[in-house]
Amino acid sequence: MTERTFMMIKPDGVQRGKVGEIIRRIEAKGYQIVAMKLMTPTPALLAQHYAEHVDKSFYPALAAYMTSGPVVAMVGEGNEIITGWRHLMGATDPTNALPGTIRGDLARAWDTAAIMNLVHGSDSQSAAAREIALWFD
Ligand code: CMP
Repeated sequence: MTERTFMMIKPDGVQRGKVGEIIRRIEAKGYQIVAMKLMTPTPALLAQHYAEHVDKSFYPALAAYMTSGPVVAMVGEGNEIITGWRHLMGATDPTNALPGTIRGDLARAWDTAAIMNLVHGSDSQSAAAREIALWFD
């Protein structure tokens, strides 16, 4: 089934020059990028995006990381893209992410307070709808 999902290249991906490589992998998989913009998230936007994490102990570190510079916010479209993009990204913690995935191949092992893992993807259809509406007009 054709779906849309919210995809993001996080600040470490932009700062480390991984934008082209990440988009290459998205397109190689056959996914279409139907919206894209470069922007630095405000603390307010980030708190809405990560509403389920704002009360967690790692949130201050996550917020500092995610507002440290521009991100590439995208809407992707493709068959089963919500699940497929999560497979392309790999496990949340780069230490556990398998070779062949974006995080497994490109993210550094976790040695800071926040897990800097290059990319984000919605984890369900309801999250995709919510996140697309939050990041795009
Ligand atoms: P993401 O998949 O975008 O969703 C929440 C983010 O919080 C996650 O990627 C990581 O960047 C970060 N994160 C999740 N768990 C932890 C943790 N235990 N400690 C620090 N950061 C975390």
